[in-house]
Amino acid sequence: MIPLFLPFMSKEAIANATNVLKTSWIGEGPKVKEFEKALSPRLGTDNVLTVNNATAAIHLALRLANVRGGEVITTPMTCTATNEPIINEGADIVWADIDPANGSIDPDDIERKITKKTRAIMVVHWGGNPVDLKKINRIAKTHRVKVIEDAAQALGACYNDKPIGSHSDYVIISLQAIKIINTVDGGILTTKTRRDWHRAKTLRWYGIDRDRRIVKETYWDYPIKEAGYKFHMNDVTASIGLGQLPHLTQLLQQRQQQAAVYLKALEQSKSLKPVSVYPGAVNSWWMFTVLCGNKDNRLKLWKKLKEAGIDSGEAHIRNDIYPLFRKYNRGPLPGVRKFNDEKLCIPIGYWVDKEAVKKIADILASF
Ligand SMILES: Cc1ncc(COP(=O)(O)O)c(C=O)c1O
Repeated sequence: MIPLFLPFMSKEAIANATNVLKTSWIGEGPKVKEFEKALSPRLGTDNVLTVNNATAAIHLALRLANVRGGEVITTPMTCTATNEPIINEGADIVWADIDPANGSIDPDDIERKITKKTRAIMVVHWGGNPVDLKKINRIAKTHRVKVIEDAAQALGACYNDKPIGSHSDYVIISLQAIKIINTVDGGILTTKTRRDWHRAKTLRWYGIDRDRRIVKETYWDYPIKEAGYKFHMNDVTASIGLGQLPHLTQLLQQRQQQAAVYLKALEQSKSLKPVSVYPGAVNSWWMFTVLCGNKDNRLKLWKKLKEAGIDSGEAHIRNDIYPLFRKYNRGPLPGVRKFNDEKLCIPIGYWVDKEAVKKIADILASF
């Protein structure tokens, strides 16, 4: 069976981790700083912080956006990791609809749902496909609210010639096991301002700025002003990241080539379509999503792929159906319903060899 997802682990990453494990410093230290420095050009900003996972980065972004007691406009079409932190950070969820052509939050619906209580807009780049960032950031500016990009799936994606990581107030990226590159578990937060970067750096370690410790005779003193978390990355996982990062360009290129084959095949299909990509956006193709028209057709395609030894799946289902989120449901979300009913993700990545790509493409073309 060709799996839908498979972790990538380079030889360098394994060697790096082994070396760090043999040293006396395995917690947060020089490797974390080195990894953040190496990430910076890939993200188009110096305001980079690594953390232990992207969910933690979402918590930090929500804290920085001061959402407690207010509302966050968000999409239900995502991993629950996008939305659970909103509740945990003390804000109310307001669902916005999505564009059924690609699963991205609909800027017009965001604008309709903005109130005096709105503190932030949470957007998700479904499968690594950037949302309409220009329009959304314009709306946010007009209404003086923050934009948080859940770019968990979008490392390597671009928008208007700049990498995802540099466009909004806060951007979070996941380095969890099955992402294009991983640090086993890990996450990244980027911030627009240096002030926010500094606050987040402090919050990620109990409200302590470890670079500003005051050494007393028998203890270290820190001016702790705000209750933080234990969200930092460690040197073992950072060293894995340092061994993975040099492979990112090639891994992304391979996905672009595979996506091109699938896109060509879909032109011939009578009932399947790819997701649309906004002008100026470059999809990272962490997931390749096929729009099947309806649930029945999706099940047929899933079965056909399964018979051919190919795994596929929905990846995430709309969050608003979970009991946890039901109290936030206020009106119909027709775009969410359509996309949720017809999406199917097919394998894309280094483990899908040329022969398998062709096999998948042939099934898509003849469907
Ligand atoms: C859209 C989205 N947001 C957030 C997360 C959470 O990432 P992590 O597992 O690094 O906490 C994921 C995980 O895959 C995700 O897909």
